[in-house]
This record gives sequence, structure tokens and C-alpha cells, in this order.
Amino acid sequence: MTSAPARTSLALPGSTASVEVATEARVPTVRRYLMCEPRYFTVEYVINPWMDPDQPVCTETAVKQWTVLKETYERLGHRVETIAPQPGLPDMVFSANSGTVVDGRVLGARFRAPQRAAEADHFRRWFLDHGYRDVVMPARINEAEGDFTWTGEVLLAGTGFRTDPGAHAEAQEVLGVPVISLQLVDPRYYHLDVALVVLTEATPSSRAEIAYYPEAFSPGTQRVLRRLFPDAVVATEEDAACLGLNAVSDGRNVVLPIEATRLADVLTRRGYEVHLVDIAELRKSGGGPKCCTMELRD
Ligand code: ARG
Repeated sequence: MTSAPARTSLALPGSTASVEVATEARVPTVRRYLMCEPRYFTVEYVINPWMDPDQPVCTETAVKQWTVLKETYERLGHRVETIAPQPGLPDMVFSANSGTVVDGRVLGARFRAPQRAAEADHFRRWFLDHGYRDVVMPARINEAEGDFTWTGEVLLAGTGFRTDPGAHAEAQEVLGVPVISLQLVDPRYYHLDVALVVLTEATPSSRAEIAYYPEAFSPGTQRVLRRLFPDAVVATEEDAACLGLNAVSDGRNVVLPIEATRLADVLTRRGYEVHLVDIAELRKSGGGPKCCTMELRD
């Protein structure tokens, strides 16, 4: 379905006249997500600089915040599937790390940290129980949508802290999509999905629109990103430091952490509708809305 471009009325300075300019209407597309309730969420080990086991964590608050996130997606018309949380796997709430699904093909996960290793098989079984026939488990370290993001055209793939560069070639072969490797350099932004977000997917006639924090990437990768996405939203340290880039967009609605006010303003001015959620409890583990959300691209 296509809709007519929106028209915005602009006042002309020093005059009572105004002109009408066409601004592109942002069109949402319905998504299907896989989420895992943080019933057993804690911070009991340290595998990224956000995690501090001495800082108190309230599991009940995490569940409440996660529930609001899930209801936000449902209110926006998206379908949310859930997988049963498992005791002893406190990071299982971060479902984005456990699979990359493109055109119904699934590439599972292989975690770098032994503490998270068992999550991968629970998700593999979920896929098999839910009718996915094309499920491949990776041979290389692969933290799935933590480091892989689909632009509608290519798979952007992060490496540097978690996902092995060899997993990029594996993803290209298994999923049959072109992969572009991006080098992460700042340990606070250890996964691609805390440094870059796809706001609008590419179509046959338009490029994808993304937002990213340049300093999280190596100089060469920064040049690649400028070349591929000259119109990107360039995020600031302030946007990135509250995990503001760990956002979820359906092409019109962008769900992002409540602290990301500057980024929210920029997105609003670009015609997006922003939805702010409080996800502070999960940030104690280095996660935000996107980490809790695996997209099922069937
Ligand atoms: N504590 C988790 C870890 O370090 C957080 C994962 C966040 N997930 C993400 N997609 N960035 O593995």
C-alpha cells in the first residue's frame, strides 16, 4: 500500500504567506518479534563494561519494564512471540543474540561467553517447534542480531568484541545475502546493535536510513558507513551512552530508551514517531529495547 506524501505548511519569513512542501510520509510495516521474559534476570557475571554484580538488580522491575516494551509493540500492531525463560540463564532476555532470520532462513547463535552458551540450543528448539525448517547452527562465534542487522538489502555485520569475522562469511553463505563487515572499537559498544540502528529498510527505489555513533567504529568502517549512508542520522556520545541506538523501528515508529531525548528529537524532526520506554534495569546488563527483541523475518 502506498500513501500520498504528507504536506507540511511552512511560513515564509517576513510575510503572511506560506508554502506547502511535500514531506515523505513514514510508512510502518507490521513485524513479528521473539522475546523472552526476564524472569531469571540478574547480573552475576561480567562480560561487558556495563555489568557490575555489586550493583543491586530488581528482577521484578525488569519484568515490569520488559512487559511495557512488549505491550508497546503490540499496541503498534506488531506480533510478539515468546520463548520460555530458563533458570540459570540470566541473559536469555536478550533474545536478539540468539538468531538471525532472513526470508524464513534461520542462522542460530554461538556465544563467546560460556555463561551464555546454553541459550543457543533453547532458541534452536524454539525455531524447530515453530515450523522453521531451515535452521543452521553456526560453526563460528556468532551473537546474531547483536552483531547483525538487516537493511532490506544487505546484512551489516559487526565484529571486534563478540562475533567472529569468520561468522560474517558463514552468514552470507547460509542466509544467501550480501554481508558488509564493520569493525567495532569501543568496549562500551561491544555489539553492533548498541552503535547502529536501521530506521527504514531499503526498497527497490530507495536506500535504507540508519542512525549510528561513528566513534564506536574504526576509521575505515566510518568511511564505509559515510559512503553507504550519506544521509544517516549521526548520533552523539550522549545518544549512545544511554544505549539510545539500541532502538527498534518499523519504518515509522521508533521505540527507544526514555533517556534518549536528543536522539528522539532528531528522529521526530525526520518524521518518525518516537515511543520512549524505561528499560533501565536491563541496561545494568548492557541491554536495551533492541537486545530484548529478535525480528522474525519470515
Ligand atoms: N549481558 C549481555 C551480554 O553481554 C547483554 C547482551 C545485550 N544484547 C545485545 N543485543 N546487545 O551478552
